[in-house]
Amino acid sequence: MASVDIVNARKSYGDQEVIHGVSIGISDGEFVALVGPSGCGKSTLLRMIAGLEEITGGDIRIGDMIVNGLPPKDRDIAMVFQNYALYPHKTVAQNMGFALKLRKVSKSEIDARVQKAAEILGLIPYLNRYPRQLSGGQRQRVAMGRAIVRDPKVFLFDEPLSNLDAKLRVQMRAEIKELHQRLKTTTVYVTHDQVEAMTMADKIVVLHDGIVEQIGSPLELYDRPANLFVAGFIGSPSMNMFNGKIRAGAKPFFETASGARLPLAKAPESSDGRDAVYGIRPEHLSLGGDLNIKVTVIEPTGAETQVLGKVGEDKINGVFRERVTTKPGDLLAVSPDLSLVHLFDLKTGNRIG
Ligand SMILES: Nc1ncnc2c1ncn2[C@@H]1O[C@H](COP(=O)(O)OP(=O)(O)O)[C@@H](O)[C@H]1O
Ligand SMILES: [Mg+2]
Repeated sequence: MASVDIVNARKSYGDQEVIHGVSIGISDGEFVALVGPSGCGKSTLLRMIAGLEEITGGDIRIGDMIVNGLPPKDRDIAMVFQNYALYPHKTVAQNMGFALKLRKVSKSEIDARVQKAAEILGLIPYLNRYPRQLSGGQRQRVAMGRAIVRDPKVFLFDEPLSNLDAKLRVQMRAEIKELHQRLKTTTVYVTHDQVEAMTMADKIVVLHDGIVEQIGSPLELYDRPANLFVAGFIGSPSMNMFNGKIRAGAKPFFETASGARLPLAKAPESSDGRDAVYGIRPEHLSLGGDLNIKVTVIEPTGAETQVLGKVGEDKINGVFRERVTTKPGDLLAVSPDLSLVHLFDLKTGNRIG
């Protein structure tokens, strides 16, 4: 096992820089998710750690060693890709043991390690099957088994669950998390799915256009997003946001651009008239209160009710545990939990306070 340190790493393709000086510290045994929209540089960064991409600037350290110039095979990492890249003409056992065979590990040692990984992954009954005789989830497990048998210092995952259906994805993410709790191997896990990142990781790195927007535990990012990008990216459904001005004074409030008034517990110091964005998550609205939503759509899911509507000219989304007996066109009275309101500077997008 080992820590991974990425210090001011840069990557250019030709004269186009796609990773702009990224620094991330990953402790020994930690499970870190790199999350961000498609094209933000997640795979590139992961491939830089793996040694599959040369780095243009900065340093990457695995354990005590700077690995910038080290070829992938000497980095003691194992990578699991989205398309599992299994050999179709090899059995499950042969697929899992192949990397060890290339390294001239003895047959008895390979058998023992494959057996142990297959036990961990529930693959014992399938060891003599070929990939085409397996379900998607079983193939995914074989791909992980291939990584496990190598007993690497670091696991790297690049969107390993993207090819699975929704139900299997939820099951596999719990399995991978459990696996990590068992093996405690340092893991870097790339996903575009913030729910996957939130549910699996000890620490999340939010990437956007080749820069780090914020690093923190899942709940740190949810509770105190550092800027508008993270606020909008983390949490589902997304945080409601309103552009407008802070009105300080004896009874402070927020005035949206279309003139609606949103409640504030208190205004930040000398913020009267400041252009800002008011954020409140859908699940932090409760029924009853002074804020009227003009209802457009109601979505009951059984466990909760989602209400879409408008406040002034702005769209708003509320999620309630209760069943809501309102209909489109009605006004629904709600109130934001004042301790869970977020304010951001309109120009910089950065959190205020
Ligand atoms: N081999 C390459 N040559 C040129 N540009 C590339 C190459 N690989 C990736 N890119 C660009 O780098 C950026 C990041 O890509 P990538 O790391 O694949 O994003 P993600 O995995 O977050 O979707 C994208 O703009 C992509 O077009
Ligand atoms: Mg990618």
